[in-house]
Amino acid sequence: PAEDEARVDEIKRLLHDRNAVLVAHYYTDDAIQQLAEETGGCVADSLEMARCGPRHEASTLVVAGVRFMGETAKILSPEKRVLMPTLEATCSLDVGCPADEFSAFCDQHPDRTVVVYANTSAAVKARADWVVTSSIAVDVIEHMQARGEKILWAPDKHLGSYIQRKTGADMLLWDGACIVHEEFKAKGIEDLKSLYPDAAVLVHPESPAPVVELADVTGSTSQLIKAAKELPQERLIVATDRGIFFKMQQAVPEKMLFEAPTAGNGATCKSCAHCPWMAMNALDNLAGALRHGSGEVLVDAELRAKALKPLERMLNFNS
Ligand code: 13P
Ligand code: SF4
Repeated sequence: PAEDEARVDEIKRLLHDRNAVLVAHYYTDDAIQQLAEETGGCVADSLEMARCGPRHEASTLVVAGVRFMGETAKILSPEKRVLMPTLEATCSLDVGCPADEFSAFCDQHPDRTVVVYANTSAAVKARADWVVTSSIAVDVIEHMQARGEKILWAPDKHLGSYIQRKTGADMLLWDGACIVHEEFKAKGIEDLKSLYPDAAVLVHPESPAPVVELADVTGSTSQLIKAAKELPQERLIVATDRGIFFKMQQAVPEKMLFEAPTAGNGATCKSCAHCPWMAMNALDNLAGALRHGSGEVLVDAELRAKALKPLERMLNFNS
């Protein structure tokens, strides 16, 4: 629509005028991903989003995604102004892991190395030895397992149990889940596979174990897009937020992509596999943040210093 075009033009002008760069996640609106790409920003998974901010010369980072992504950007680039289209965009994993309860849990298990998923608050990260994203979680835990370390993992129990199965590490798991990925059903994927036996199955590891078991490839959003290109199959069943289809389809225009069913009857759910918090990012509030400097992410200096250490460990990790 013409209104969207006008909004896009305004955002482009504001990004330039405010010396700002747009860092967007694959689950955000297609128009936002397109804007980030066209204006020299980043469209990325969580790890690449974290790396994008410090690398950029811009003095303002506009992070389109969910709250933990903005906080991570601010922790890694404290000298920059970090804005988000809305500060209300949280994540069920973050909500399900309050810092005080988590800290008490850690206190009960002082013999364990504390590893937290990036999808957590700055306060939870501040209590951790390591932060990981789904793209390097297995490599980092394998490294710890080789050193005989016992692990306390939070908050995603599905990702945690996937890593446990892959590495055989001794992991104590927090009981959290992603409300989007938890909805994928193995039965629905099997039914789709019986219609298209030649299709490959791509799964984000926040999905439950029976779904991960059906996967030809399991990985972060960027890793799934890469796999879509590398796999020989022409049909791909994809179990992650449907925001990923914008970039994935661009990467493989000749292939047929199917949303993994979120109900056991084989029907593809058009509304379930989309994160309600990612969906809060829109052209309007993105323009508003740039116009007024609203939605600024601030992290207390002491907390920042503590959360920076496990984040830096992740960024410096070479498998
Ligand atoms: P990625 O790091 O794979 O982009 O995942 C982030 C996320 O929130 C998945 O639900
Ligand atoms: Fe959190 Fe799930 Fe949304 Fe990702 S998709 S931000 S893990 S609720």
